[in-house]
Amino acid sequence: MKRPTVIGIAGGSGSGKTSVTRKIMEALDGHSVVLIEQDYYYKDQSDKTFEERLRTNYDHPFAFDNDLLIAHIRQLISRQAVEIPTYNYEIHTRSEETIEVEPKDVIILEGIFALENEKLRNLMDVKLYVDTDSDIRILRRLQRDIEKRGRTMDSVINQYLSVVRPMHLQFIEPTKRFSDVIIPEGGENNVAIDLITTKIRTLLDA
Ligand code: CTP
Repeated sequence: MKRPTVIGIAGGSGSGKTSVTRKIMEALDGHSVVLIEQDYYYKDQSDKTFEERLRTNYDHPFAFDNDLLIAHIRQLISRQAVEIPTYNYEIHTRSEETIEVEPKDVIILEGIFALENEKLRNLMDVKLYVDTDSDIRILRRLQRDIEKRGRTMDSVINQYLSVVRPMHLQFIEPTKRFSDVIIPEGGENNVAIDLITTKIRTLLDA
């Protein structure tokens, strides 16, 4: 059986990775695609108190269980099903529940650090970086974290200034150099989405 095509989609928080991913998946309609969100692989913190979890730096590569993520991507490439973890942003730790994911022809890995780890990068056929101005990113994040992640405006602003912004500049932005394609303005960029999905289809038909 043919090796699945692996796509990495990186970019800062609020850059629009989710909408780029959704549009690529829609455009690949008819092909079998599985999405792995890197956020599911935030480390389990159930042994820590809630106050300790609030002090965790979630924008540092160490916050992620990359060993498990790499193992799962390798299993999916070998056409084996995996039990992926799930994550709860309100209590800052892994949930009890896992999700069984079947192997597919296309594997999409989406997350702020999708291109940070060399072993992960080496598993990818197409590497994308969604590049969106930081003012747009913070506005989107503010709205999303208040509406969907149970946060207050003050907490989002404090976290952004003390952690998210400096970590973005230190660790996320530099991974742009590892990408094959930089997509300005994320999900709004239909030309880029079109070019990328054409390339993915070529790889699938090869
Ligand atoms: N994060 C958090 N609290 C946690 C775990 C993660 O606030 N307990 C935040 C981190 O600060 C990190 C962000 O989650 O910056 C990563 O998610 P993000 O990239 O913003 O979300 P996506 O929906 O994957 O991406 P996009 O907004 O680009 O669509």
